[in-house]
Amino acid sequence: MDNFTFYSPTFFAFGKDTENDAGKYVKRFGGSKILIHYGGGSVVRSGLLDRVKKSLDAAGIAYVELGGVKPNPRSGLVYEGIDLCRKEKVDFILAVGGGSTIDSSKAIAAGVVYDGDFWDFYSGKPIREALPIGTILTIAAAGSEGSPDSVITKEEGMFKRGASGNAIRPKFSILNPALTETLPAFQTAAGITDIMAHLHERYLTNTKDVEVTDRLIEALLLTMIAEGPKVIADPHNYEARANIMWAGMMAHNNSVGVGRSQDWNSHQIEHELSATYDCAHGAGLAVTMPAVFKYVMKHDVNRFAQLAVRVWGCQMDFDHPEITAMNGIKALQNFLHSIGMPSNFAELGAKKEDIPQMVQTLCHGNGRPGYIQGFVKLDENDCTRIYEMMI
Ligand code: NZQ
Ligand code: ZN
Repeated sequence: MDNFTFYSPTFFAFGKDTENDAGKYVKRFGGSKILIHYGGGSVVRSGLLDRVKKSLDAAGIAYVELGGVKPNPRSGLVYEGIDLCRKEKVDFILAVGGGSTIDSSKAIAAGVVYDGDFWDFYSGKPIREALPIGTILTIAAAGSEGSPDSVITKEEGMFKRGASGNAIRPKFSILNPALTETLPAFQTAAGITDIMAHLHERYLTNTKDVEVTDRLIEALLLTMIAEGPKVIADPHNYEARANIMWAGMMAHNNSVGVGRSQDWNSHQIEHELSATYDCAHGAGLAVTMPAVFKYVMKHDVNRFAQLAVRVWGCQMDFDHPEITAMNGIKALQNFLHSIGMPSNFAELGAKKEDIPQMVQTLCHGNGRPGYIQGFVKLDENDCTRIYEMMI
């Protein structure tokens, strides 16, 4: 196991009606004038925003609002949010929504206290200082409620890039699984896929003897395989939604990724798809992951075979571990298809003729060195072949 430090100070309030304590938590974590940030309107329609405001009023917290965060959140609204926070002397940001709203909040939080362009953080500069943020999560997916990460798309050039730093880990996150019951089945499935992707990105490691985190990842994947189909069949299955919601947090706050190298090639390759076609991140991952895994499988066939046996229940073929490994990848592909995810370019709305541009942005855009480096190093030729496998 590699040396590591792990600092994850987020306070979690989990369960039914916990959003009614929002005001209490904002106060506890030092907010007096806050920005409520939200998305395209689901929190208005569900009545959640009204309940949150009631709770803030009861705690005597003043607030301003900024809605309109789009899935795959954009830089334009971040600049608007930074200006608003400075003008209104906001000292705390409350994100009410999904990963996109939380990520936009994190970008604003880092930008408000920084003299330069917030995009510097999305070009490699670590985030060391930010306004405190809290979240009320409405979709189990990105894991941003417990992560030190934020992903934003810069409109000029459509670069979709991540930034990181413990300063943007939420001070508190409110997770009420019942809030996710209004999600369309497609979004629920995209969330399930993203959570499974976060687990795979950590499972694909070059670090040896990481049994504890291997086993934790396997347990979380088994949970997703058992609970995922239950919520697709019955969106009001609270217990299954609860299991998925906590698994989503655990999959990405990095407690199962410490002490090991990680992959993230599938995420980089997918980000070009969601930047180009504005597709749901999870749907893009459903098409991307099997192609990437088949392409890189030979790098460590035993790791893929281990996953196939322990998680998908495949029979180990000791003479031909590559057959076992491939059966595991096919089982993942079938599972994602069974919950309603796309499995190729056409189903995603992607086009073959856009591959050269995506590869160019992926490998060279925003200062990249001509390749991406995760579990394996992938250059332009590799990335082109991977995109072609998705057709
Ligand atoms: O905008 P509204 O109207 O709220 O609708 C949203 C949106 O259309 C809707 N929705 C959310 N909760 C709902 C609901 N509709 C009905 N009922 C509810 N309870 O769902 C749609 C998707 O929301 P979004 O916030 O985009 O989803 P998600 O949480 O999947 O976030 C995706 C973004 O997170 C990034 C992705 O790249 C993508 O931009 N990621 C962030 C990470 C991080 N910060 O650590 C890691 C991830 O790997 C990921 O890259
Ligand atoms: Zn993701």
